Amino acid sequence: MRVLVIGSGGREHALLLGLAADPSVTDLFAAPGNAGTEGIATNRSVDVASADAVVALAKELAADLVVIGPEVPLVLGVADALRAAGIAVFGPNKAAAQIEGSKAFAKDVMAAAGVRTAHAEVVDSPADLDAALDRFGPTWVVKDDGLAAGKGVVVTTDRAKARDHAVECLESGHPVLLESFLDGPEVSLFCLVDGQTVVPLIPAQDHKRVGNGDTGPNTGGMGAYTPLPWLPDETVTQIVDEIVKPVAAELVSRGTPFNGLLYAGLAIGADGPAVVEFNARFGDPETQAVLALLRSPLGQALHATATGTLAELPPLQWDDGAAVVVVLAAENYPGTPRIGDVVVGADGEGVRHAGTARDADGKTVSAGGRVLAVVGTGADLAAAREQAYARLAEIKLPGSHFRNDIGLAALEGRISV
Ligand code: GLY
Repeated sequence: MRVLVIGSGGREHALLLGLAADPSVTDLFAAPGNAGTEGIATNRSVDVASADAVVALAKELAADLVVIGPEVPLVLGVADALRAAGIAVFGPNKAAAQIEGSKAFAKDVMAAAGVRTAHAEVVDSPADLDAALDRFGPTWVVKDDGLAAGKGVVVTTDRAKARDHAVECLESGHPVLLESFLDGPEVSLFCLVDGQTVVPLIPAQDHKRVGNGDTGPNTGGMGAYTPLPWLPDETVTQIVDEIVKPVAAELVSRGTPFNGLLYAGLAIGADGPAVVEFNARFGDPETQAVLALLRSPLGQALHATATGTLAELPPLQWDDGAAVVVVLAAENYPGTPRIGDVVVGADGEGVRHAGTARDADGKTVSAGGRVLAVVGTGADLAAAREQAYARLAEIKLPGSHFRNDIGLAALEGRISV
């Protein structure tokens, strides 16, 4: 099977590594890829937002399967164009990808499917903002109703900060969503979805804030671990049965079936799981940890999803133990990152490249905010953490930063439901 993976981050590097380990995958291509993916795939340049360009590349490469990593091509309809050209694609069509692309659409689907989520109001005019803020908070949850790479959400007890973020979104032409605050530890549950068939992967927990102890602004994700020792197995079953399956069925009934990876971001509160958000693709960096434990062939799972045969896929097998991923971020991330520095140790064991490129001398240089994602595995969370941080210690990047508490609260038994 010839597989083309669209995207250039740590998630795509992890997907390519998983695909490379599948004997049914004969040829691998990444577009555009990064300095790490070129070791396992042929990198090709492409404008991922151009459906015509992606279709032309997939045809030129005679791809049997195209896996779309990031959300932007999905919400722009790149999967639609590939399907129309008769190419198998892992990733939802534009209409179903609105579950991520429009928070208001996601709320509407959840209401119709009877799924628990935060109460929300859309504000699209500055004139309505103050009265709406008065109906919420503290704590205020203010979301940009568009794609914002995980950084469009501000959760704060400071009304002025909430208002400033809302005004910024409105001034950039996006409506904002005000939400009631959902209490409880967060879970990322990734599900392969092919219409109404739902196959969950193992649950993970992201660390979204930039600083240790969940301080500072939100990022795309600074680290993750899996599985979650504090989450009962029956809660995963409950999430699948009461949340993901009803949402998948609602999308089918609207004539916009979801095909790809439905990512449920949840808060596990006193009343059970409630949806914080849905995404229409694998999460980053949770994917790097989750796929490190997948024993089943990844290419066959993604191909079965893409071709509507997920119900026939044998149950997924997982390694025992745990995986931890720690993100090494460039100086000033999540603001405008410093880029162009040589990264020493970037090709070490467990390293997934995220924002990297090659300089004229062939050296790996930083090229984005999240530069590397370093994965450790082990018999338990403690061992996996130890390996991830030992691997990270071998890497040098001027001005870079990382969190040193990924998975620590779980390890110390400070998370319970
Ligand atoms: N880890 C957060 C995201 O992928 O959106």
